[in-house]
Amino acid sequence: MRTAERAALARAVALATRTHPRVSPNPAVGCVLLRGGRIVGEGVTEPPPGRHAEVVALAAAGDAARGATAVVTLEPCAHHGRTPPCTTALLAAGVARVVIGHPDPHAVAAGGAAALTAAGVEVVGPPAPGTALRGAVAAQLEGFLTAVVAGRPHVTLKVAVTADGSVSPPPGQRWVTGPVARRAVHRWRSEVDGVLVGSGTVMADDPRLDVRDVDHEHQPAAVVLDARLQTPLQARVVRPGTVLVTVEPRRHDAAEQEQRGQRVDRLRDAGVHVLVVPAGDDGRGVALPAALAALAEAGMVSLLAEPGPTLSGALLRAGLVDRLVRHVAVHLGDTAPSALTTPPPGAWSLERSGGAGADAIVQYRALDHHPSTIPAPPPGT
Ligand SMILES: NC(=O)c1ccc[n+]([C@@H]2O[C@H](COP(=O)([O-])OP(=O)(O)OC[C@H]3O[C@@H](n4cnc5c(N)ncnc54)[C@H](OP(=O)(O)O)[C@@H]3O)[C@@H](O)[C@H]2O)c1
Repeated sequence: MRTAERAALARAVALATRTHPRVSPNPAVGCVLLRGGRIVGEGVTEPPPGRHAEVVALAAAGDAARGATAVVTLEPCAHHGRTPPCTTALLAAGVARVVIGHPDPHAVAAGGAAALTAAGVEVVGPPAPGTALRGAVAAQLEGFLTAVVAGRPHVTLKVAVTADGSVSPPPGQRWVTGPVARRAVHRWRSEVDGVLVGSGTVMADDPRLDVRDVDHEHQPAAVVLDARLQTPLQARVVRPGTVLVTVEPRRHDAAEQEQRGQRVDRLRDAGVHVLVVPAGDDGRGVALPAALAALAEAGMVSLLAEPGPTLSGALLRAGLVDRLVRHVAVHLGDTAPSALTTPPPGAWSLERSGGAGADAIVQYRALDHHPSTIPAPPPGT
């Protein structure tokens, strides 16, 4: 890959990052067209049913696309979906060379590189595994890749703890951490499809789970796991767009069936999407793999989980956390108890750590959950 192409790929990643996640469940792709080392067109995926990034960039370049190099974050699609194949558009425009940031793992959409090569186009990339550029491309596509490869959304778990390890705010305070750390959470919320909690957090805190206090173009859906349907109907999350995941009522209990049916009707009347999945293995809560699969099916590729200790622990034990973010309410310079800065059991790499106002943020990535290494779910799940 040439130097100008590497720079163009980094630019395509940056362009695509800005569109995320308004195109979910489609991948937010970036495309830069180069001719003679100069950018002649750029594009990002438009929200469904809009155009793919390649088609937007080709339209921007016009005649300058003939003989150009297309630098695309994700292998161009070769199938007829909502839009015609991007490979066809690239060939029709006379593009001579295509640089790919990441292969498409989607069984239906893959095959673009082979189709282009067969048509005489020079295809280059993706960047070598382990390089910063490859990592940046994979990170930008992590939601899409996780949804395709693992059949569930990418999950970031955020936990806020006080210096002495409590998840509850000190008496008289509403939050564990200060305004700077909370703004970081709101920025994060603005980049995901859903903000996930358990019913315990809804009942204890009545959170809004929306984006406030930061510039944003997107509001994520509030997502509540609630097997026992305990979410109060007057809770702030009971609003249009919220997703509530619950379980089937027990078949032999007609009274329970009727009571739950009425509650589900009232939630649905309030605009809440109610998804029904099997109960957890021990009969408690919802089955987490099934709940996440149902959310992916509903079009969510990325979740920020902000639950209490019950659901946090369950997600970690089930190996369903891809990124763990700890907000630790200690003044920088204080020594945080090692229990708070040590990752939980398993293979984690430290992604980032630093101050956020009076608090510290420590961020880990699950090593064996890198999008390209996530194992596919067993058949039938
Ligand atoms: N510091 C922080 O970062 C933070 C964040 C949020 C909350 N909190 C605090 O945490 C406390 C609430 O704790 P919590 O543990 O009750 O809240 P939670 O983890 O958000 O909710 C727990 C509930 O989620 C439901 N759930 C559904 N499926 C589940 C599954 N597979 N595994 C586990 N839970 C499942 C269960 O109710 P069903 O059986 O009815 O489904 C369970 O009782 C509050 O005091 C709140 O202030 C702290």
